Amino acid sequence: MPKIVIAVDGYSSCGKSTTAKGVAARLGYAYIDTGAMYRAVTLYFLQNHVSLTNPKDVTKALENIKIEFRRNPETGRNETFLNGLNVEDEIRKLYIANMVSEVSAITEVRRAMVAQQQRMGKSRGVVMDGRDIGTVVFPDAELKVFMTADAETRAARRQIELLAKGDMLDIDEILANIRKRDLIDTTRADSPLRQADDAHLIDTTNMTLDGQIALVTRMAEDTMTKI
Ligand code: DC
Repeated sequence: MPKIVIAVDGYSSCGKSTTAKGVAARLGYAYIDTGAMYRAVTLYFLQNHVSLTNPKDVTKALENIKIEFRRNPETGRNETFLNGLNVEDEIRKLYIANMVSEVSAITEVRRAMVAQQQRMGKSRGVVMDGRDIGTVVFPDAELKVFMTADAETRAARRQIELLAKGDMLDIDEILANIRKRDLIDTTRADSPLRQADDAHLIDTTNMTLDGQIALVTRMAEDTMTKI
């Protein structure tokens, strides 16, 4: 079977990463969480008081940022490392979610992350989830899916996820964050979130995670047989 690139784009908290991770495991592909990369940059900028409006500051900071994914041998999960430190838990917190859309709207940041993502997927055999994978990072991806769901459903899912990590948050606060991110992600000038013309739309409002994984895996197998 030929190895392909699978681009999974869509709104926040639609189950993109769980779906992408599940599909990668089933196909024996690498999984790349591009949102984690923007989150790690956001953490670095906050910790180092980088001025988001100063392109020189931003460029200099980007030169000092090294992001890697390493497999945790105990859990088998990929975890995000920023300059050698495991930041997987920290980057999932709400204070990062509240800032990440602004950081990821900066052209210099996008240019650096996209170049790294293209290197990571060069030999194909990857499932990459994000906002611009099918439109900018891999416009030639053999399979593109675009995921969406009701904002209320996404907020409820996010609340359960955060609770499992010990963060108890009001549903209205989460919903406000999701709506704000949707707005910034879809209206930013550089690489706004949009469905690629050749992407398959999947509305996950009434789907289970297993159903999503099965559907995308089937699509991938179907795509491979046609190459
Ligand atoms: O998938 P996520 O929620 O972890 O992504 C965090 C933020 O990063 C999201 O609000 C938009 C941004 N992002 C992006 O601009 N481009 C990507 N390819 C992935 C994420």
